[in-house]
Amino acid sequence: MGHPHLREVAAPVPVEMIGTPEMELLLADMHDTLEDYGGIGLAAPQIDVPLRIAIIEIPAGPTRYGELEALPLTAFINPTIEVLNPAAAGNWEGCLSVPGLRGWVERPQHIRVTYTGTDGASRELELTGFPATVFQHEFDHLDGTLYVDRITDSTKLVFEEELARFGAKD
Ligand code: NI
Repeated sequence: MGHPHLREVAAPVPVEMIGTPEMELLLADMHDTLEDYGGIGLAAPQIDVPLRIAIIEIPAGPTRYGELEALPLTAFINPTIEVLNPAAAGNWEGCLSVPGLRGWVERPQHIRVTYTGTDGASRELELTGFPATVFQHEFDHLDGTLYVDRITDSTKLVFEEELARFGAKD
């Protein structure tokens, strides 16, 4: 946070880049970074690549966000979100680009994602609950938005270790 590139609107991925060795390298680099961080999602601008790509991988078993429904590693190229139900719920979000902190952010919990897959095919995915939050967080990065921008109560921006120590007061 503070690097100007995190605040820029990323460019659409050119169709001709999909499936190239350059794209494979980028996706591998993103996956390595995600695994090093122990996160569940990463957007290309977070590794200083200004393109509209995010990856999400929710492993089976415990994560830094508790036990979640698993989602295999998937790359989302040029994704868009349609909110199917604006009813929002809050979560303690964290971010590789905002280390050591967590913030309470409320987002719609029912969305449809349209994106291009790594094979160039157009795909759709309907999401509810926490995964809907994860996708909105990652896709925000493609527009230069960080979760801290969406915190409406600044008392709910906290250090991770204090959150672990004192617990969450919603
Ligand atoms: Ni993030």
